[in-house]
This record gives sequence, structure tokens and C-alpha cells, in this order.
Amino acid sequence: MTVAPLRDPASGSSEAGPAYDRADWASAFRNVTVELDDVPLTAARGEVPAALKGTLYRNGPGRLERGGHWVHHPFDGDGMITALRFDAGRVQLRNRFVRTEGWQAEETAGRYLYRGVFGTAKPGGWLANAFDLRLKNIANTHVVRLGDQLLALWEAAEPHALDPDTLETRGLSRLGGLLKPGEAFSAHPRFDPGHHGAPRMVTFGVKSGPRSTIRLMEFATDGPEAGSLLSERRDTFPGFAFLHDFALTPDWAVFLQNAIAFQPLPYLLGQAGAAQCLKSKPGARGSFWLIPREGGAHAGEPPRIFEAPEGFVFHHLNAFQEGDEVVVDSIFYADFPSIGPDTDFRAIDFDTIPEGQLVRCRLNLATGSVSSERLNERCCEFAMVNPARQGLPARYGWMAVAERERGNDPLQALMKLDLASGERRVWSAAPRGFVSEPVMVPRPGAAAEDDGWLLCVVWNGARCASDLVILDAASMAEVAVVELPLAIPYGLHGSFVAA
Ligand SMILES: [Fe+2]
Repeated sequence: MTVAPLRDPASGSSEAGPAYDRADWASAFRNVTVELDDVPLTAARGEVPAALKGTLYRNGPGRLERGGHWVHHPFDGDGMITALRFDAGRVQLRNRFVRTEGWQAEETAGRYLYRGVFGTAKPGGWLANAFDLRLKNIANTHVVRLGDQLLALWEAAEPHALDPDTLETRGLSRLGGLLKPGEAFSAHPRFDPGHHGAPRMVTFGVKSGPRSTIRLMEFATDGPEAGSLLSERRDTFPGFAFLHDFALTPDWAVFLQNAIAFQPLPYLLGQAGAAQCLKSKPGARGSFWLIPREGGAHAGEPPRIFEAPEGFVFHHLNAFQEGDEVVVDSIFYADFPSIGPDTDFRAIDFDTIPEGQLVRCRLNLATGSVSSERLNERCCEFAMVNPARQGLPARYGWMAVAERERGNDPLQALMKLDLASGERRVWSAAPRGFVSEPVMVPRPGAAAEDDGWLLCVVWNGARCASDLVILDAASMAEVAVVELPLAIPYGLHGSFVAA
């Protein structure tokens, strides 16, 4: 099975070269040097909507260099949380590094003491790194609210709990004894808006090996029970699992097991990071693993397995059920995108790295067949639907995209895609702006699926600092731009917590 051609050939084609200056793009790779406390901000353009009330939390690498020694990949940078609080047209900024054990030790030492999963080595060559298999939990991937905790997530180990208001680090959290020391806890929880009554946070941990076990967990998010575990199950599958994200429907948790092998020798010998030892298996197909959810129509049944299209997936947009089918929208890469041991990430050649493509797969539960079609050809990442449509049929997706219609470039624009018609609306930060993950926030009391705002922290290459951009989620028109007194390197994930 291969991915079918684009449905919407009218989306245009451009042979033009990249529309950005590489120095602008690379200027975001720097250390965050300050921690700010509730700095009031005013919009440089437009007005912050009075109806927007709550906090946008962002997580991402905030420290990329120590003692002149750079990380090999930005994903090895220590987690730094940004909080933007909105109330009655005002906005305040606070930021804090997560006080992980590794960050504190390295701050004191003034040099790297740990190896990074994505290839960062300790100073001293491979001899200084060989057989040092300690993991530095860098808490840099996502940040979500669960009960009275803010959780800074990193998928290979347990979360760090933070104070949601002050962002002070409370410490590693085993979620009241639920997790074993060092147990993997995904950085990609999904928020079920109420498929079976009250809303839930659904997430997983994966123990990988020749056989891999997924622990699927569902937590209460509302009322006095918020943060408590409602259900869990464990399922074991053949093969090494690399699972970063998953998708959700009322009946299923949907995983895509990439066709990937782990060849750990260079890691053991101190020559490469663990993630650099992930190798795609040419010609091999990945699998969809569907695990029945508690409370769904298939609760208690064994998982279902389907063959996936060729390609590699980090992130999904959404999934939903339609008749006998489970429909999964995912961002596919032609191959596992990695940075080789001898490549400086600031000098990567985008043309040699595959771009993300939004692909819809239909998994037929009755026949076991899978079909797929590309929804759009523009290079994309970091996609989401209206949170109220999580796991349900959604009309619209919002995502970060490249400025060019074809080819791989840095993400410079935000796109609203009509998943039914293929119609697109694009807001662009090019030529000097570079976007991160957009977060769609519904307007309180909204009836229409696209009524709300799109919030995005944008790297402004002209200012060498970050901007908060607020768009109208329906029209993609600019509502406000707030220039932050902070330079934040390209981030990973974040979430909005309504007041
Ligand atoms: Fe992710």
C-alpha cells in the first residue's frame, strides 16, 4: 500500500527557492539567560482579546550550550517553561527552567555531566562517554495541567511536577506511587473531552525491547478526583517500539509502531546517542496497534493490529470512528529524520531531510484493510484540532507549515486546513519569522468549531527574540502581536489551561 496522490491539486505549486535567511533561522539557537516574574506585556500590534482567559504553557529546550560545548541536537536541551497568562485583555509572562537533577548539577559544574539521548556527548571524547548509560531526565517535551500539578514531561522517564502559578519545581513525580522510579511516561497525553462522561487525560508509557509493553492509563481531570487514575491496562507486542505520540477515539487508543530497529552498540561505546541508534528498516512496514479503551465498545478485548503505510510518524493530528472504520490523521515522513553524528544541527541541509506530510489512514475493523490518502502536500508539523473534537470527527486542523508549497524548509507559517474540502487559510511569519506549535483555544461558549484563537510563539529573526502571535482561528487574520522580552529557542509542545 502506498499513499494516494493529493486530493486537492489546486493548492498550487512553487518552484521558488526558500524564502528565509539561514542566519535568521539559526539565530534562535541560544541559551535562555533570564527567568522573568509576571512581566506585564502590551501588544505591539492589535489587541489581546478580553475573552481570552487562562494560561498558555510552553515547554522546550532552553539551554543549548555549556562552557562552549553545544548540544548535538536541540532536543537534548534542558526544559524551560514559559507561561503567558491572559486576563481581560492583559497578558503576563513568567519563565522558569525545570530544576531537574541534571540541570542543577550541570549549572553548578558549568559543564555537561550527562550524555544526551540525541547525541550530545560529555566533553572528553568517546572514552569519557562509553558505558555511561545514565539518562538525564531533561523534562523538555510537553507541559500539561493534571489536578493541582503542572507536569513537565519527557517520555523516557517520570514527569517533573511544578507549581502551576509560580512554575517552581516541586520535584520528580511518581503520581502518588503509580510510577516506578525511572518509569517511562509519555510526553503526549491526549485530553478526552468527555467521550464517556467526564473529561479525562489519557496517556501511556512504553517499555521497549525485543517485545514491547504499552501501559495505557486514563486519569480524571475534573473535580476532587482530578489527577487520580481511573483505569489502566498493559499490552505486549512483538518487536522494538518507538512510540512518541498516539491518537484517541471513544473506543480505541491508536498507536503507530514505526518500522524501526534499535542498534545500541554505538550508544554503549559512547559514539552516538541512543536516539541516533534508531535505524529505519528499508522496505519494512510499521503497524497500527489499536488498544481498546476502558468504557468503550471493545473494553476488555485484545488489541487489533493493522499494517501501516510506508514512512515514519512522530505525531498524529486526530483520530475518529466512522462506521466500521477507525480514521487516523498523521504526519508521515518518508524516512526517520535524524542528524548524523558528524553534522552540526545549525548547518543541516533541509533538502536532505524528508518533510512531514499529512496523511489520512482508514483502518477497517470488519475487513482488516487499510487505505490512505494525502490530505495536503505542504511540509507540516505540530497539528491539532479543536480540543472539543479530540477523538471525534473534526472539520478543521491547525498546523505549522513551511512557507513554500513543496519541499522541506523551516516552519514559517500557520495553516488552517478544512479536512473535508481541502480549503486552506494561511498566516505567514516569513521571511524573518519562524513558527512553533500553534495551540487552538476555543472562544468560551463558542458554537462553531473554528470560533476561537490560535496562539503561537514565533521566533522573530529581525528582533532576535520571541513574539506571541494571536490569530483568529476562523479567518487566520492577525488579532495581536506581543513582543516578548525573552528569546526562546524553538520549542516543542505546550497547552492552554482555561481560567
Ligand atoms: Fe511530540
